[in-house]
Amino acid sequence: MSQIADRKPGTKPFKTPVPYEVASAKAEIVLAQMSLEEKIEYIGGHNYFFIKGVESHQLPRLYLVDSTQGVHLRTDLDSKLEVSTSFPAPIALTSTWNTELAYAYAQSVGEECRAGDIVVLLGPGVNMYRNSQNGRNFEYFGEDPFLAARLVEQYICGMQNTGTIATLKHFMCNNTDYRRRTSNSIVDERTMHEIYLPAFKAGIDAGAMAVMTSYNQINGEWAGQSGYVINDVLRKQLGFKWLVMTDWWSVWDPEKAIKSGLDLDMPGHGRKSPTDIEDFNNPFLRSNAMQLINDGKVSPEDIHRMAKNIITTSLAMGLDRPADTDLEGLLALFPRHAEIALQTAREGIVLLKNDNNVLPILTQDAHSVLLTGMFTHKNAFGGGAADVKGYDVETIYSALSKELGQIITYIEQPTDRELSSASIVLLSIGTMDSEAWDSPFELPDEVNQLILHAASLNPNVVVIMHSGRGVGMSKWIGKVAGLLYCWYPGQIGNVALAEILSGKINPSGKLPISIERRFEDSPAYPYIPEGEALYVGWDKDFDIDRPIHNIEYREGIFMGYRWYDRQGISPLFPFGYGLSYTRFSYSDIRLSQKTISDGETISVHFTITNNGLQDGSEVCQLYINDNESSLPRPLKELKGFARQFVAAGEKKDICIELQSRDFAFYDPAIHGWKLEPGTCTIMVGASSADIRLLATVQVV
Ligand code: BGC
Repeated sequence: MSQIADRKPGTKPFKTPVPYEVASAKAEIVLAQMSLEEKIEYIGGHNYFFIKGVESHQLPRLYLVDSTQGVHLRTDLDSKLEVSTSFPAPIALTSTWNTELAYAYAQSVGEECRAGDIVVLLGPGVNMYRNSQNGRNFEYFGEDPFLAARLVEQYICGMQNTGTIATLKHFMCNNTDYRRRTSNSIVDERTMHEIYLPAFKAGIDAGAMAVMTSYNQINGEWAGQSGYVINDVLRKQLGFKWLVMTDWWSVWDPEKAIKSGLDLDMPGHGRKSPTDIEDFNNPFLRSNAMQLINDGKVSPEDIHRMAKNIITTSLAMGLDRPADTDLEGLLALFPRHAEIALQTAREGIVLLKNDNNVLPILTQDAHSVLLTGMFTHKNAFGGGAADVKGYDVETIYSALSKELGQIITYIEQPTDRELSSASIVLLSIGTMDSEAWDSPFELPDEVNQLILHAASLNPNVVVIMHSGRGVGMSKWIGKVAGLLYCWYPGQIGNVALAEILSGKINPSGKLPISIERRFEDSPAYPYIPEGEALYVGWDKDFDIDRPIHNIEYREGIFMGYRWYDRQGISPLFPFGYGLSYTRFSYSDIRLSQKTISDGETISVHFTITNNGLQDGSEVCQLYINDNESSLPRPLKELKGFARQFVAAGEKKDICIELQSRDFAFYDPAIHGWKLEPGTCTIMVGASSADIRLLATVQVV
């Protein structure tokens, strides 16, 4: 049990079992015995998900597996693992605002990796939610860099403390999957550092040992072969020293790739054509490297450096030693993993509307609850590499039948009479998102009509939304009584949904995204090239012989709620929003000091009171505003948060600490962070649009 004992969340970064310097010196010894050909063999993957071992040099074969929300089992590849737990999607984890849970969630996934001899997990995905249509939003940690960073650092520690290497992906500015291989994100330096890099930086500072580059171009070059992206930003500016791999089939110029600071080309083999991706005889980087050396375009030292980073990473994690895997002990942890998955859903489901307290159901004296809609008997889930099937899967119907018993009736196509005579109508809708394409913000017409029709017949329609992102709800939100945003539930999340519907659990999730009224309000709109349209399917994903299209991040740092605040647009549901069955009031804000200077910390104290009749947890949020600044700054920037349980009728004192760096902004003129003297407002509240307490602090 050695690899799973004593794993507690904390702020300490992960420490490799073998220090970097020792592993790197050991790697040199191994490399001294390797021929150039052997080193070249090492810089490309094998059989889709492996780094080849070199037995004569005691280098083990390394097994890499997706993903962020559980272990994606590939039946075609051998593994000891027969099942894996399917967790709620990372966007649900982010909705909990619970850093300890992020640790436990990742630790659980890591333990399942260990049970399957998987040494590298190809996650977490830490791209930002800029575009509500992005097919991968469910895999990521929302729109706010601070919130994402706090969860990601715990994810990394939780994962790597099990002995599994975590991979931060997709580096970087890969915020749409619409023709992801031919899109070019145009982003300025300040925006990168303030918005798109903090989650990566937090992961790196927490000790993440692998980074995967993205499919897109950044400012005119593909990420996986860009010296600017890998050498300058990732390695020099963010200080990353471990393994850098490409996303699967994403580099096109071997010379550039070898010189960019990249270490490993995945999956390693080549492509004959967009549809034939299994050309094992033409491994892309490996088959080109020798010719490039002979032509003097790259040097043997370049190859040496690449192989060295891969070997150093592996040795630092101790992967050259036989794993002391206690398989039975690890398998015995599966029930705990399911508990953590359940807890994630309990805390991550967001109650967005509850008119006339239509929920919880039992308090309404409901005699008949009608369940209908799209995902009642088969769960919605996110597809692609992140897809995890799970086991003992609870559907909405199975979970609700157990929780509510007789009063639940499922009808696939209810008549008007059945709709109008039910005490409550639970209407399940949603979207099934996937990598490789984006999906429309607006729901299909027939889905909107379904909701409007039910709402026209029954005043107590509660919409149960399963989706990986925000979707258009303006057409019907005013007509329904309730809305629960449940993301993708994984195998057991619907049990939490049933508990919330029955009132056993008080909802406490808060949105990690803003949900706009219409897509045109979003900073990402428009982004599809003229004359083109969204599509579904993988074939277009390999269509790389087409013009590159630019995605200009014109809004700069004003993304998410920073954008809506600045434009004076009120989103349908603001960032940080979520209802409870109880009411919390905020009072008595106090600062430990009135000024703050470089290197100092200030404590912000306040009290929250549960004024309702039910125990509950509140996610308190702290935003700052720099009243005057030499560069434009957002009206609000999240810089602290606290999730707190408060029993009915009780109060709790909360303390959130701010460090001087929380007041700084990135100044491109000095290529670094700047703390400017002046007055800053501190705002504490229940969401980005519901500020309850104000204070000021002088930065000196
Ligand atoms: C995805 C990656 C994933 C890789 C391997 C790619 O399509 O973009 O996130 O890790 O496949 O499955």
